[in-house]
Formats: sequence, C-alpha cells, structure tokens
Amino acid sequence: MFLNGTKNMPWRAWNYLDLQAGPGRVKIRQTSEIISGSPLIALETNRAFTNCWFVDIDPKNVDALKKRTSQIGRSKLTIICGNCNVEVNKVVEQINATDSEYREGVWSSLNLAFLDPEGLELEWTTVEKLATVKFMDLVINFSTSGFTRNVETALEKGNTEKIDCFFGTTRWLDAYRTVRHEDGNRIRREMINFYKRRLANLGYIHVSDDLYPDELVVKNSKGVQQYTLLFISKSDLGRKFGREAASRNRGQRKLPFTW
Ligand SMILES: C[S@@+](CC[C@H](N)C(=O)[O-])C[C@H]1O[C@@H](n2cnc3c(N)ncnc32)[C@H](O)[C@@H]1O
Repeated sequence: MFLNGTKNMPWRAWNYLDLQAGPGRVKIRQTSEIISGSPLIALETNRAFTNCWFVDIDPKNVDALKKRTSQIGRSKLTIICGNCNVEVNKVVEQINATDSEYREGVWSSLNLAFLDPEGLELEWTTVEKLATVKFMDLVINFSTSGFTRNVETALEKGNTEKIDCFFGTTRWLDAYRTVRHEDGNRIRREMINFYKRRLANLGYIHVSDDLYPDELVVKNSKGVQQYTLLFISKSDLGRKFGREAASRNRGQRKLPFTW
C-alpha cells in the first residue's frame, strides 16, 4: 500500500527501516509453519523499496538474515548488527544527507520505519531521531504486555530507568498513577495515549485520545492482549494508509469510528 499508493509521486527514494529485524523467518508455534518475518516481507513486495536498512542486536539473527536476503536483490540493502538505539543515528544521517541535496522537481525521500521490539527496548531517543526525517512514517509495536509486566516491579524496586527511556521522560508515572488501580484496558489506553501525545510533539498526527482507527490490538492464543500496533504519520496520506492497514488486519471488522 505504501509503495503502490505513492508510485506516481516524484519521491527521490522509497526507504524501509526495520530496526529490530529478527532473523528473517518466523515459526508459528502452534502449527510449525514457517513464514516470512518483516524484513523478508519488505523485500518480497511487487514494487521494491529503493533502500532497506535492517538492524538487529543478535549476531545469530543477523547472520541468518544475511543468508536469507542474499538472493533477493532489488533494493539496496544495509544489514547492521548492533543496538538500534545507537545505529539509528547513522541510518538517519544518511537519509537526511541525501534529502538535503536540492533536485529540481524531485521530492525528498519517503520513509517507513517498522519498530518491533519484544518489550521496552525501543528508546524514545530513537523515535525522536527518526522524526528528524521529513517524511518518516512509523509502525510501532507498543508492547502493552512489556509495560504491564515491568511497571509494578520497577516501582517496587525504585528503578524505572527502562520505562523512563521508553517514554523519554519520567512523566509517564503521572499518567500511570491516574489509572493504576483500574482495569488493564484502561491502563493500556492511558499509556498509549500518553505515548501518542508525545509523538504529536514530534510532528506526528494524533487527533484524539478517544478514536484510534490507526491501531491494531494483537492478543495471544489465550486472548490476552500482547501489543498494539500503532500506525503513525505526519501526513494525511500516511494516516489513510495506517487506518486501512489496521482495518484490513482486523479482518474487515466494521469500525465503530466516525473518521
Ligand atoms: C519481535 S523480534 C522482531 C521480529 C521481526 N520484526 C519479524 O517480523 O520477524 C525483536 C527483535 O529485536 C531484536 N532486538 C532486541 N533489542 C534490540 C536492540 N536494542 N537493537 C536491535 N535489535 C534488538 C531481537 O534480537 C529480536 O530479533
């Protein structure tokens, strides 16, 4: 959708960043079926991204990913073994350097970053850095289970550094205190809204705390909520893609939204 819906526009490049890329393939535990992970999905599109950057901290994943991507060659690939919260700087500097060259009739690059941590290892500084790129849409795996799993222990131990880094502030605690004794849905909603309000300060669109057609809730096989995918953009077109992606993946469930 991102590539096809923008193909007739004069972008200088279509870039994809996958900052917690994994090994390239995923095994479905219940069925043992093996399917493509996010980096291979990005390389298997009909229209190719111009550049793809894949980062993972685990050398085994990076080795596997290099092997699995060596035959899929239409995008220019950069695969980095390292901490995404550090490596993001190099990637963004490359994109911003390319964008800064004036070319008549050609727009800057159009970028999509998929941020898919297991828990809270995506630091806010990384999101801030990505936001310095003019057109950088984000798909963020907001690990609601990572937050709820960690928060009370962190408070008991008096060590909230990981959560502070995730939200980029200690003010998340004020938001959490307002819902701390309420049910899980209310807590998740408040913390996602807090995060989206912070994204709005970086130039991303957050229309309302009460409407969220650009989100997709993912539960485990026991029906427990694991994470929420957030589709985030600075532009109306990017938001439209996000809403469509979320609604398609909800299995065409009719949305109770008036957007
Ligand atoms: C949920 S998995 C990614 C799955 C992948 N997106 C897919 O669709 O197959 C999260 C990945 O993040 C990696 N990771 C964890 N912390 C990281 C960090 N600080 N920087 C980069 N990668 C990290 C892990 O090694 C793991 O492979």
